[in-house]
Amino acid sequence: MRQVMVAGNWKMNGSSESVKELMTGILDGMASVTKAEVVVCPPAVYLSRVCGAADGSAIKVGSQNICDQDKGAFTGEISADMLKDVGCEYAIIGHSERRALYGESDELVARRFAAARRNGIKPIFCIGETLEERESGVTNDVCSRQIDAVIALEGVEALADGVIAYEPVWAIGTGKVATPEQAQDVHAFIRGKIADLNADVAEGLRILYGGSMNAGNAKELIGQQDIDGGLIGGASLKAEDFLAICQAAE
Ligand code: 13P
Repeated sequence: MRQVMVAGNWKMNGSSESVKELMTGILDGMASVTKAEVVVCPPAVYLSRVCGAADGSAIKVGSQNICDQDKGAFTGEISADMLKDVGCEYAIIGHSERRALYGESDELVARRFAAARRNGIKPIFCIGETLEERESGVTNDVCSRQIDAVIALEGVEALADGVIAYEPVWAIGTGKVATPEQAQDVHAFIRGKIADLNADVAEGLRILYGGSMNAGNAKELIGQQDIDGGLIGGASLKAEDFLAICQAAE
């Protein structure tokens, strides 16, 4: 049985004050969340204090990226060891905003994935197609290509007990959520693709949906056979909304 995961990607939002308030709100509501694994991914400058606030609770903390190198002259980057040092367990890797706005290639994303794994940080590996790609009918090809870059570098076993987030770019921050059927189709494709290489890895792999998931649509999406949770942007910034999504897994 795969445990449902609900992860909040706070993106570049928040302040000392609002981060404190958000964490207090989530912590207050955690008693009502018994099934989902809950992860929050604040901006890097707030990781330490969020880890501190989460300490002793069931909330896990992730970063929004990770360096592909382990140490040294990589200005602006944050290593896996540093993330572990402050208490992170997860790292979002390959988010479409990083790919599209900061030019991260499939190969760089794969190297970041590798760096996380070899240093004990669990990747939340993001993939997904643009609207143009969906309309051209190449959704599965795009997801395949993005996954293949990781498999080429690390082997399919690297996805054992792993987390992939399928985030159709056209659904991110647009309010235009994929229908449960659209999402399930891609999730089933992803699991099937992995199963062709290793059935056990496919069975254990959690595939999250991301893209305008909210309290109103989470239950139906998470109810799909191959949807094992969500990676939440906008709706993770309000404790009440985020908790409602976590409760959708109950
Ligand atoms: P929204 O939930 O705001 O659409 O963002 C999804 C996302 O990009 C999570 O990583």
